[in-house]
Amino acid sequence: MFLTSKRMIQVVFVCVAMLWLMAQEGLAAVSGACSNCHTMHNSQDGLVLSASGNDTLLVSNCIGCHSCSGSETIVNLGPTRIPIVFNTTGYPTKPLAGGNFYDVAAAGGGIDSHGHNVYGISNPDGDLDHAPLDLWGGGCTNSCHASLAMPKSSMTDTKIDGCKICHQKYKHHGTDIAAGSMETEASGWYRFLGGHDARYGGGIVMPSSYVAGVEDADWEQDPTVGHNSYQGAEMNHNDNVLLQSTHSISAFCTGCHAQAHMDTEDSATGVWLRHPTMIRLPTNGEFAEYDPETDYDADVPVGWLNPTTPTRSDAVVTCLSCHLVHGGQYPDMLRWDYSAMSAGGGESDEGCFKCHSCKDT
Ligand code: HEC
Ligand code: HEC
Ligand code: HEC
Ligand code: HEC
Ligand code: HEC
Ligand code: HEC
Repeated sequence: MFLTSKRMIQVVFVCVAMLWLMAQEGLAAVSGACSNCHTMHNSQDGLVLSASGNDTLLVSNCIGCHSCSGSETIVNLGPTRIPIVFNTTGYPTKPLAGGNFYDVAAAGGGIDSHGHNVYGISNPDGDLDHAPLDLWGGGCTNSCHASLAMPKSSMTDTKIDGCKICHQKYKHHGTDIAAGSMETEASGWYRFLGGHDARYGGGIVMPSSYVAGVEDADWEQDPTVGHNSYQGAEMNHNDNVLLQSTHSISAFCTGCHAQAHMDTEDSATGVWLRHPTMIRLPTNGEFAEYDPETDYDADVPVGWLNPTTPTRSDAVVTCLSCHLVHGGQYPDMLRWDYSAMSAGGGESDEGCFKCHSCKDT
């Protein structure tokens, strides 16, 4: 895959933006020196920072600040910590909770099936012309249901880009929430996630379309010291799941991949046509072996009906139990190598076998 000249300019811009940020001494937290992150005239030492300029007079854009040419996944600049989601020179050894976009970028081989293809990082997906398992049709063509990597000119809202489509509630100056407490509107909800906000909703505005949850302080860079607590939900396989009412992480995904949960082909069969999600993880049988309340495995996460008081019986299967969201190193954005999992293949605690503890031997 070749870098288009436009892409090249973007990559150069990303590096310039990072260098500019890094040149700032003791970059303060979001409450710190405005000039660390904002530029009043979009210039520095005669250098034009960006041809198009950034929103709210920022020195960079979403990707510029959240990418890194080294291997760090949290860039510490004085008191400011920038969580990195795109390492431009290699898949990091300590990716954050959402994974990393490296593999879908040209530098990482442009492997479309390893992640969401996002504008500014990769071309549109070569195999998928819309979100798989979406309730496709009805005015969603030429929207974020078709691609998160379309050139801006083809979007209805020319300001839209992949990062903003999923993180519609972004609020970098939001309030800090006490450890272990649920995120709020004032803090930008869970990781700024939501859909159909007034800013980027494509004409449909749903203020209650946000994701709830409890955030881990280091974005799970080191899951042994703490982990995210996702908002789960318990839903029947026939039900369309609404983000506005459940605020669950899975309902966020089904906003674009509804059929990953619903049995739309034949809702009368009464059986799951897809792998169950938004059901409780049974406490008996082969599932008894995995107790995420006392021994959580961040490689096989679960959601909770009440994230502030995680209780074994309230643990639920979520889309993120098997998938990463930004990108990973395996097809279908899976957290682990599915092709390496064989029934009767010998004792294993990984992937499918974490929950299906008796299918390995
Ligand atoms: C660590 C980076 C950082 C620092 C430091 C920072 N900002 Fe921001 N600011 C952002 C980002 C990112 C956005 C845009 C995205 C958003 O609103 O979440 C933003 C948005 C804004 C906005 C528009 C949105 C809003 O919340 O009103 C204003 C106004 C603003 N900043 C003012 C300031 C001022 C004044 C200072 C210094 C006291 C400052 N910022 C320091 C990162 C920063
Ligand atoms: C000027 C640099 C800068 C820009 C531009 C910027 N961010 Fe950030 N972002 C930061 C920093 C610094 C943090 C870490 C704040 C903290 O410590 O919680 C952050 C945090 C985040 C988080 C994690 C929030 C959480 O709850 O931990 C998300 C998601 C995010 N940014 C998305 C975006 C998106 C989407 C955009 C574009 C609209 C964007 N950022 C633009 C600097 C930036
Ligand atoms: C398909 C939706 C989607 C897209 C596109 C997306 N994100 Fe995210 N992002 C998420 C979700 C979901 C999480 C929470 C992951 C978790 O907690 O497991 C997240 C988490 C984050 C975090 C916190 C670190 C982490 O890994 O948990 C940052 C920072 C962030 N995103 C920035 C970005 C930026 C910058 C872009 C564009 C390059 C982007 N995101 C594109 C859905 C998305
Ligand atoms: C705003 C719409 C949107 C949201 C929200 C969204 N996706 Fe996607 N997803 C897409 C689109 C568009 C594609 C197809 C193009 C691509 O891969 O980027 C896709 C592709 C995928 C694929 C196939 C990857 C491949 O390239 O083969 C998986 C798996 C996936 N998404 C899982 C998720 C999960 C899990 C979540 C929630 C954490 C989620 N998605 C949230 C739009 C979305
Ligand atoms: C138990 C693990 C598991 C859970 C939970 C799970 N998936 Fe998947 N998903 C997979 C596997 C494995 C594949 C690879 C294809 C296959 O085996 O069907 C896949 C494939 C996909 C694809 C690509 C399908 C295609 O046609 O290319 C999408 C999109 C997707 N999943 C979205 C979701 C969403 C959204 C949820 C939550 C509602 C979810 N998944 C829950 C394991 C899971
Ligand atoms: C987070 C835990 C978890 C993970 C990881 C997981 N499963 Fe499941 N799986 C479940 C639960 C819970 C059920 C429903 C069991 C029940 O209700 O009896 C289930 C059911 C199933 C079923 C039967 C579906 C039906 O309709 O009866 C199959 C087949 C299956 N899983 C395969 C897989 C495969 C293959 C993987 C790895 C890609 C996987 N599972 C990963 C929790 C998990």
